[in-house]
Amino acid sequence: MQNRITTLFNISYPIIQAGMVWASGWRLASAVSNAGGLGVIGAGSMYPEVLREHILKCKQATDRPFAVNVPMLYPDIDKHMDIIVELGVKIVFTSAGNPKTWTGFLKEKGITVVHVVSSVKFALKAEEAGVDAIVAEGFEAGGHNGRDETTTLTLLPAVKEKINIPIIAAGGIATGKSMLAAMVLGADGVQVGSRFVASDEASSHPDFKQKVVEAGEGATKLTLKELAPVRMLKNKFFHDIQDAYAKGATVEDLKTLLGRARAKRGMFEGDMEEGELEIGQVAAIIHDIRPAATIVQDMITEFKEAQKEAARF
Ligand SMILES: Cc1cc2nc3c(=O)[nH]c(=O)nc-3n(C[C@H](O)[C@H](O)[C@H](O)COP(=O)(O)O)c2cc1C
Repeated sequence: MQNRITTLFNISYPIIQAGMVWASGWRLASAVSNAGGLGVIGAGSMYPEVLREHILKCKQATDRPFAVNVPMLYPDIDKHMDIIVELGVKIVFTSAGNPKTWTGFLKEKGITVVHVVSSVKFALKAEEAGVDAIVAEGFEAGGHNGRDETTTLTLLPAVKEKINIPIIAAGGIATGKSMLAAMVLGADGVQVGSRFVASDEASSHPDFKQKVVEAGEGATKLTLKELAPVRMLKNKFFHDIQDAYAKGATVEDLKTLLGRARAKRGMFEGDMEEGELEIGQVAAIIHDIRPAATIVQDMITEFKEAQKEAARF
């Protein structure tokens, strides 16, 4: 398959494995890259020296292109960027911040830059900042998300109307059929998060992977809009947040409730009650834990079958 995204990243299939805190280290990223997609290391949960180790191991595990995702929410971002440049990483995804902050610096070093957005307004800002492509992420996506609750189905055509650079669709995509739908709506590729959490190579805690497989319709909700909106599984921690809202919690109260390291506690250490368990609505149709390469291959097979099926309409 060849299009603007496979050409931009020099990959076989326009499937990007999302950079995800506590899930996407070198093992997952290299497995996806070796399968012909683009593997992405999620730097957001890594100290700078941990990121260094993951980049070096990823380079040993694959000769194919891979990327690093850097959420601008986190401290130590300068150190992350220095390591990325020093180790010659060729593709960077930035998220949760102003695209102008790092795009110029990275482009000067010859790095391909992609920025994650959840609205047309931010897509335009990213294009203006000079990024090479954007990820348009809908409200159904797992993890941190936009405030406007725009779904992928609505966001994609709206962004396509205004943007000329390649678009990667994210949010609710876990199958070849949804990949085809996203591409019909104007995407050049897809970024897949939740599906890869339930993969053998994800560094997520096994109990969290199992929860994802068990999750059904309505199992997730976007919350904590006053801090940084995040979609998570409805566990005890989620219900504690709901109780706090019912009692009129202030932003400070919510910050105190969230505390530190909630996401690590849940997704990495396996505390299914008190931890923050970030996952998308699409968990409802994820029924097994598979090798990452199988996820990529199955998506491509289904995509091709769906193309033929669509000809009937
Ligand atoms: C566990 C988890 C952690 C995530 N961490 C990040 C992150 O560190 N940086 C980021 O840009 N997006 C993050 N996201 C969002 C993903 O990159 C991706 O856009 C999203 O998962 C796509 O929607 P889907 O979950 O429906 O596939 C995370 C998502 C999940 C499920």
